Amino acid sequence: MNILVLGGGGREHAICWAVRKSRKCRSLFCIPGNAGISEIAVCKNLDLNKKNELIKFCKKQEIDLVIIGPEQFLEDGLSDYIKSKGIPVFGPSKKASKLESSKSFAKRFLIKNKINTAKYKEFKSFNSAVHYVSVTKYPIVIKADGLAAGKGVIICKNKREAINGLDEIMKKKKFGSAGKKVIIEEYLSGFEVSYFAFFDKNGFAKLGYALDHKRAFNNDEGPNTGGMGCFSPTKKMTKKIQNQIEKKILIPTSLGLKKDKLVYRGILFFGLMITSQGPFVIEYNVRFGDPECQTLLRNLQTDILKIIDYNLKDKLSDLTIRNKKQSVVCVVVASKGYPGNYKKNKVISNLSKAKSIEGVEIFHAGTALKKEKVISSGGRVLAVTAQGNSIVHARKIAYKAVEAIGWKEGFFRNDIGQKNV
Ligand code: AMP
Ligand code: GLY
Repeated sequence: MNILVLGGGGREHAICWAVRKSRKCRSLFCIPGNAGISEIAVCKNLDLNKKNELIKFCKKQEIDLVIIGPEQFLEDGLSDYIKSKGIPVFGPSKKASKLESSKSFAKRFLIKNKINTAKYKEFKSFNSAVHYVSVTKYPIVIKADGLAAGKGVIICKNKREAINGLDEIMKKKKFGSAGKKVIIEEYLSGFEVSYFAFFDKNGFAKLGYALDHKRAFNNDEGPNTGGMGCFSPTKKMTKKIQNQIEKKILIPTSLGLKKDKLVYRGILFFGLMITSQGPFVIEYNVRFGDPECQTLLRNLQTDILKIIDYNLKDKLSDLTIRNKKQSVVCVVVASKGYPGNYKKNKVISNLSKAKSIEGVEIFHAGTALKKEKVISSGGRVLAVTAQGNSIVHARKIAYKAVEAIGWKEGFFRNDIGQKNV
């Protein structure tokens, strides 16, 4: 098969890496890709707003399957468009993507299907929201309804923080039209898990879970990021919790989709909070997580193209996905200053040395090539993953590789995989 992957982050590098391992893959292309992806796929710079150019490219390269990485393309209806041109595509429709692109839609779906989620209210009017936060109990969580690159969530300890948050989202329009409506919900405590399963018209197949580290700095301090590192598995995810996730979340989600005649084909990412009352859904995401994807695909044994084939044919219920029984730790190395301002175009050296350490794979995110040298070109730059017999073992290898990389302008967290093991 000739495969095209859309996106250029660490997640897409990991997808390309997994696709490359499949015997079914003949040629692999990526738009736009990055320096790491260009080692295993032909990267092409093409403006994806020009959808007809994309289709021309697919026809010319005889693409048999397009795999979409980022959520924005899905919200923009790119999956529907590619499908309408007769090209098989992995990534849910615009309609199904509302599970991520509208928090209010997702909340209504969860409540309707009796899936545990934080109690909430939604507001379109700033004044009504301000009135509510003046009388409610704290802490609370305020969320912009639409896509905000993972940044539209504010946890508020008191009324002052809440009014500030509402002002940023609704008045100053920090997240543009994503903040026309807000969700205000109760604060859930417990530990967070990113859980993944492929869903189709008839059922689902479980992939696995990883624990993300959202804050920029050690001990969960500093601003929220896209994710600074992951690990999987953890003893905290007991059989009992995993059974509860299946019974109380995965099955009702699948039944709810059927009831609503909402066909979802693709990977579904459940942001969960495991509370003392069991698992609660914080959010749905309609794509792989980043860096969760880099972490989980390291252990995937089943051919990813076989999974996608079953997914597109609505046969997932016939498939059990197999994973290696190894532990994986993924440490993200980012440009100093991320998620705020940072410098670009800095040379990164010793990548081959770091990659040659047994058990290590390095996935690139914001990297580019300049005169055959790898340079930084984004906030999150590398996802260094290591496989080991235990989290402690994998951690040791991952940090050995991180330390081997020559890039003074980069920073990383030292505590990935230290908690919750
Ligand atoms: P989201 O963008 O919805 O993933 O939210 C970002 C982060 O905010 C989550 O990963 C959680 O750490 C936190 N969060 C969101 N909703 C809640 C909630 N109801 N209770 C506690 N933490 C939350
Ligand atoms: N790492 C969390 C996400 O991809 O949304």
